[in-house]
Formats: sequence, structure tokens, C-alpha cells
Amino acid sequence: MTTNNGTGGVLWAGRWGFVLAATGSAVGLGNIWKFPYMTGEYGGGAFVLVYLLCIAAIGVPLMMTEIAFGRRGRGSPVEAVKRVVAESGGGAGWSILGWMSMICGFMILSFYVVVAGWSLSYLWKALTGGLVADSVEGMAAIFEANNANPLNLGFWSTLVTLLTMLIVGKGVQEGIERSVRWMMPGMVVMLAILIGFGVFSGGFGQAVHFMFAFEVGQLSGEGLLAAMGHAFFTLSLAAGAIMAYGAYLPAGKSIARTTFMVAICDTLVALMAGLAIFPVIFANGMDPASGPGLIFMSLPLAFAQMPMGTLLEVIFFVMLTMAALTSAISMIEATIAWLVESHGMVRNRAAWGTGIVLWLVSTLAMLSFNLGAGWTLGGRTVFDWLDYLTSRFLMPLGGLGLALLAGFVLKDRLLRDELGLPDIGHALWLFMIRYVCPLAIVVIFIDALGIMNL
Ligand code: PHE
Ligand code: NA
Repeated sequence: MTTNNGTGGVLWAGRWGFVLAATGSAVGLGNIWKFPYMTGEYGGGAFVLVYLLCIAAIGVPLMMTEIAFGRRGRGSPVEAVKRVVAESGGGAGWSILGWMSMICGFMILSFYVVVAGWSLSYLWKALTGGLVADSVEGMAAIFEANNANPLNLGFWSTLVTLLTMLIVGKGVQEGIERSVRWMMPGMVVMLAILIGFGVFSGGFGQAVHFMFAFEVGQLSGEGLLAAMGHAFFTLSLAAGAIMAYGAYLPAGKSIARTTFMVAICDTLVALMAGLAIFPVIFANGMDPASGPGLIFMSLPLAFAQMPMGTLLEVIFFVMLTMAALTSAISMIEATIAWLVESHGMVRNRAAWGTGIVLWLVSTLAMLSFNLGAGWTLGGRTVFDWLDYLTSRFLMPLGGLGLALLAGFVLKDRLLRDELGLPDIGHALWLFMIRYVCPLAIVVIFIDALGIMNL
């Protein structure tokens, strides 16, 4: 905890430090809020299958690459990419990839705090008895009422923004590590309880079928892109987070092993969340394609029917909020590290400065649910656009750029040193990064943009 690497951050402590931090980044609202509602919107099994394939074929090799870049470059993503490319004799132009990812992380955080605000407000409601309704319609009405008042919704998203910047400004690695250490198992236990409840709810069989009946034909090109984009989102890829954290990874730790652990935890939590939520949806005759409010309208209904439901509900929303916070801080780390490194700012000041801009943008996203519901472009609100642009375009394109850079431009020796894999493992990584990742991304784009119908 004492080695400074020049961006005001210190190296992750102990054997598990980085794994915990990266898991904290990966496991978040993406798993519990976004994965179920996207799966519901895109019709179930086929979406899940493509998502899982993208995790394995694109996500894992790219996460290894990002960590390697971060550790080799030992700086913010902007600087890290520049340094690694320079070491290989390449031009400074590639740092655009660092810029893209940094901006992408900021954009994601701008709408993420609104969703984390939902979680925090539901914690408050659970504590104060505000989550009682005996039907899906009743729960939907609670969700809508919570959104309708900008002062109420803004209060919660502002609180999340403040908390995030407070944690980031202090650079409290130890705190993050410690909280993830108990939050992860806690979340798994909580989801297991919900799944156990779901087994008896009468909707479980239908839920399993919905999630795992793989009929690929069901999925549109748009759905393919959504599934791939979500694989990036859920693993925190091409958004500055993993690369920024990689800069604090001590030398000599296995990047491959770390990556596997993070990817497995993340996937486990997402699948468990689906298995916890869909039984409630089907048992109560709710539409799986209900959109971003899905878990907020369904889960409280399940808790209401469970013994000690209120207590469990409080614990659940505490953990969901914490999971959101450990992801939120990772999205903004790149920006903070960059401000410290290039403008010589003190960490705390960088955090508050960034926080002000963040607050302004996130307020626009928050208003999408009330005053600004009509401020749309192509049918999308500000909130929708921030999500859409990042998940469908910035992340996959950033990933494509990074794969091409690592696969074809850099001298092989560089990342080979950093990854430290046995020959066969390295050959496999290189094959994935050179051919599988770029091809998969390009093919999915071609299909989604309707240039060709595959
Ligand atoms: N992976 C996080 C989640 O699933 C979201 C995230 C995206 C975090 C991009 C960092 C960067 O909630
Ligand atoms: Na995730």
C-alpha cells in the first residue's frame, strides 16, 4: 500500500487486492439490473447465449489485454496506451483509444448514478415501509412515483455522485477491497435465497426455459449487438476501468488467472440474478420486456411474500448499492488518474472537479424520467443515449481498436512479457486477439447495421 505509481493511486495490497477491486468493478448494476431487463427485452435464451459466447471469446482475451496495458504503461489509460505503443516504436495517435475509454467511463457513470440512486431510494423505502403493494401494477406505480419528482430522484442520484467522489477522492483501496470481500459472498447468498424462493413460486420452470432455451434465430442483428455490448459493459471493458486498475497491479501477478476469476464471478452473479428475478416475473404475470424498471417492480413483490422479507430486502438493497458504488468508482478512476498525471492535480481536488461535471451530466440523465422525458432524439432520452452510445458503439469499437493494436501493431515480446503465459497459452491469446475478437466485433456490427443480413 505504499508504492505510488505517479497518478496518486497506490498499488493493490495483498494477494487478493486486485482481484477484489476488479471484481468490485465488474459486478454491479450490470449484472443485477441490466442483464435481466436486457434478457427480457431481447426475448431470453438467444440473448443469453450470445452474451456468454461474447464473454468467453471477446471479453476474456480483451480483459487480459487491458490489464497488461495498464500494468506495462503504469499510468492513466491515455498515458498507458501512449507509453506501451511508444515502447514498441509506434505513434502517439493510438492514445485515442485511451481517450475514448476514459470518456466512455465518464458517460456510463453519468447514467449509472441514476440507477444506483434507484437502488438507494429503494433501500430507504424498504426501511421506512414504502415498498408495500400486492401486485405488479402496485409496484410499477411506486417505481413511477419515485421517478416523477425530479427533486426526489435528483436527491438520490446526487447522493450517489457525492459518495462516489468521496470514495474516489480518498483513494481508499483498502476500503474497496474489504467491502468487496464480504459483499460478493453476501450477494451470492442473497440471490440463492431468492432463487430458492423462486423454485416454489410456480414460475421457475418457465424462467429456466426463458433464459436457457437457445433459439438463435430469435435474435435480431440489433439483439446481437446488444448482447455483445452488454458483455463489454458487464466486464467493465473498454471503459477505462480495468486498464486504470491494471496500472496498480503489482508485477508478477498472473493476469490470466485474475481475469478468469473476475469473469467467472461476474457471469455467476448475472445468471443467478436472472434465475432470481424471472420466476417472480412469470409467477406474477409480468411482461419480461418491461424495461429498466424490471427488477424494481418485481423483486419487492417477492420480498413482500417472504418470511423476514423486509429484513432481506434491506440487506439486498444495501448490497446492490455497494455493488454499484464499487463499480462507479472504477468508471471514474481513469479520469482522476489522468487529471493527476497530466495536470498535477491533487487527487481530492481532481475528484471534486470531476464530480461537478458529472453532477451536471447525470442530472440531465436523471431528468429523462420526469421533466426531460420529452427531450428525445430518435425516440431516445438523454439517459437512453448515454447507455446506447457507450454499450453499442464506444465499447465495442474501443475493444476492436485495442485488439488490433495488441494483435498487429505492438511487438509481440512486449505483451508476452507482461502476460507471462506458457507458449501455448500465449499462442491462444494471440489468436483470439488477432482474429476472433476483431472478426466477431466486425461481423456483429455488419449484421446490426443491416449492411448484410447474416
Ligand atoms: N461492469 C459494471 C457492471 O456490471 C459496469 C461498468 C462498466 C463498470 C464500465 C466500469 C466500467 O455494473
Ligand atoms: Na458486471
